[in-house]
Amino acid sequence: MTTDSKVMVDITRLSKTYHPNIEALVDVSLLVNTGEMIFLTGRSGAGKTTLLRLICGIEHPTKGYVEVDGNDLSKISGSRLQALRRRIGVAYQNFKLLPERTVAQNIAISMEVAYRSKLFIRKQTKDLLAQLNLEDKYAIRTSKLSRGEQQRVAIARAVANKPDLILADEPTGNLDAETTRLVMDLFHRCNLDGTTLLIATHDKSVYEQPDSKVVRLGGGRILEHGDDFSDAPASMDHEAIGGVEA
Ligand SMILES: Nc1ncnc2c1ncn2[C@@H]1O[C@H](COP(=O)(O)OP(=O)(O)OP(=O)(O)O)[C@@H](O)[C@H]1O
Ligand SMILES: [Mg+2]
Repeated sequence: MTTDSKVMVDITRLSKTYHPNIEALVDVSLLVNTGEMIFLTGRSGAGKTTLLRLICGIEHPTKGYVEVDGNDLSKISGSRLQALRRRIGVAYQNFKLLPERTVAQNIAISMEVAYRSKLFIRKQTKDLLAQLNLEDKYAIRTSKLSRGEQQRVAIARAVANKPDLILADEPTGNLDAETTRLVMDLFHRCNLDGTTLLIATHDKSVYEQPDSKVVRLGGGRILEHGDDFSDAPASMDHEAIGGVEA
């Protein structure tokens, strides 16, 4: 870590309204401490992707603010914002791979931007492909891959440069149970190394684990604790506490 901050993501009274009047997020507050792994769940349209997009700064809030590792995203721009973004690895719901580039070239991107050595990039890429059961795809164009393979390449790219924060949007949506476990094992190893993770998922096999911290969104809001939640909140915000299972 580059700072001593204990809080990696501080979201305060965040709202996002899309034209004409779609309330994707409404007054959401949430704290994610450094080193935590939090699962963000909720029905389709609940606002999970919107929240992740606001945290990595590719969308701007209508109201409220987001701080990442002490940086208020509304107050930084240019090279400072870029430097912060390099510390965030994002696995997008729709992958956003470069289709005409190979698997290795796609995974290398975040490491090249950070001036990692060729040796580091090659080793890290091969290691990640081995962990995700994609060893034989190193030199294949991503347009030739299955959806589940593309999804794993997007995950490898997100974690490759050892980011401080990983945002993963439905990272197991196209995967069978065994491959899902490979991905979750990789995320757990990142977490053991100190990386903070926020994972949006519908997949109960992913988040219904002992000790999982789950934030549940519904209609753009963090839901209050219901009967089906345990009463052990963690990492929650200042006032609008709710929706965390532990
Ligand atoms: N660019 C946009 N313009 C207009 N409406 C949008 C836009 N992006 C998202 N929305 C709307 O905001 C709401 C939240 O969408 P979001 O993609 O965050 O949901 P989600 O929880 O990620 O859903 P899913 O589980 O299907 O991925 C939805 O009603 C969606 O239609
Ligand atoms: Mg989504």
